[in-house]
Amino acid sequence: MNTEIPVASGAQANTGHLDEFNTTPLAFLHRVYRECGEIGQFDLGGLRTVLLVGPQAHEAFFRAADEQLSAAQAYQMMVPVFGEGIQYGAPPEIERQQLKMQVQGLKHERMVNYAAVIEQETAQFLQDWPDEGEFDIYDAFTRLTLKTSTHCLLGSEFRRQLTAEFAELYHALEDGLAPSSISDPFQDAERFRARDRARERLETLISERVRQRRQAGVWEHDMLQVYMDSTYSDGRKLSDHEITGMVIWFMFAGHHTSSNTTAWTLLEIARNPEYEARLYAEIDALFDDSEALTLKGLRDIPLLDGFIREALRMHPPLNAITRRVMSDWHYQGYTVPAGSNVMVCPHISHKLPEYFPSPDEFNPERPVAQTPFVEIPFGGGRHKCIGNGFAILQVKAILSTLLHRYRFDLAAPADSYREIMPALILRPSDPCILSYRRRHRRTGV
Ligand code: HEM
Repeated sequence: MNTEIPVASGAQANTGHLDEFNTTPLAFLHRVYRECGEIGQFDLGGLRTVLLVGPQAHEAFFRAADEQLSAAQAYQMMVPVFGEGIQYGAPPEIERQQLKMQVQGLKHERMVNYAAVIEQETAQFLQDWPDEGEFDIYDAFTRLTLKTSTHCLLGSEFRRQLTAEFAELYHALEDGLAPSSISDPFQDAERFRARDRARERLETLISERVRQRRQAGVWEHDMLQVYMDSTYSDGRKLSDHEITGMVIWFMFAGHHTSSNTTAWTLLEIARNPEYEARLYAEIDALFDDSEALTLKGLRDIPLLDGFIREALRMHPPLNAITRRVMSDWHYQGYTVPAGSNVMVCPHISHKLPEYFPSPDEFNPERPVAQTPFVEIPFGGGRHKCIGNGFAILQVKAILSTLLHRYRFDLAAPADSYREIMPALILRPSDPCILSYRRRHRRTGV
């Protein structure tokens, strides 16, 4: 028996649901779920897209083989950004080996160094702060995590000399991810030419750094060193083009996702002051006499961990996790035809009341969901995020440094801080201002 997949209402004659998806993607996906239930379809300018909701459907999605549901085919707009031959632009076996190289750079012994780098950058970020003031958390954390990421990725020298130019090139690459790049990322338009020029310049900068480092014979504790030292199974080393692609891939996967999570977590800390005394006590206990933050401490901060986890539940950064259907895909009596996309949305899953009672309430002590594949901020299955440990480390290192020194309060009515998703990553609305005041630790807060 083949059951018809329910269709979302409101399709326009030529473009289907594309305009609504591009303008208010999250509200649109929630509407599709409300109308259609566990499985529902819509039309993105001729591309049939099927939204799947609930643990069973998610498990089928995340566990499917790449030959059946392909991530690479769904994310082809990333190919000119990362470069041909990298991740989704590489044959699956090469992609797998490149992924292993990324994992290599996120091992425990390297994390120790990253924790120190992030703490150092955060302390520098705070050095000119007066006793009290206001700041825009979205903007500030976007800039701070660009510095921490560049530092961990490319080392202290690159960070000192080149962060400003790197930031400019990176923004040009981001601009190349306009919605129109989904249908044709290679089209002839100025923003795509600017994207290609930025990638070329980045390759020149990074190749120069690689050359200097090889010539000087120095060895550094950063990701660049991992890429320089890595070899494929046939003994071949990464080319400069591939090293540049690995750097860009790391940035795109980890930068905005981590900075937005930092912003949401601090916002929720300010919104929920009833936890503040316990939270500050927990954080102060982490700092020894010399005020250095240890990796051990970063592993065990239960209430801050709870805030981060709950922030990731309420405001998951990535909400259009997509695969291309390579041959007709059968699920529960439905057939999704080859050539369609299938999509999973953590924001919908994380609000299902049967798994998350009172889902709109922020509760940093909420018990862990017992059902697999419902709490999915980092995805699941074969393409599950490999950077989650680094991301959590980064958010904790930044926030514990901040909270040890300052306390934070809302600077506008609580309901004026809204969710927006302009470029397929969920973020707080503009402006997103919090006030801060230096803490007097003797009194706890
Ligand atoms: C809070 C921060 C982060 C969130 C919420 C997040 C979320 C995700 C999600 C949902 C996926 C699955 C995508 C899919 O199935 O199509 C993913 C994959 C991935 N993430 Fe993250 N991520 C974060 C931080 C990072 C960081 C810091 C890095 C790098 C160090 C990273 C590297 C990756 C990579 C390489 C993949 C692809 C894995 C594969 O295709 O097998 N992520 N991430």
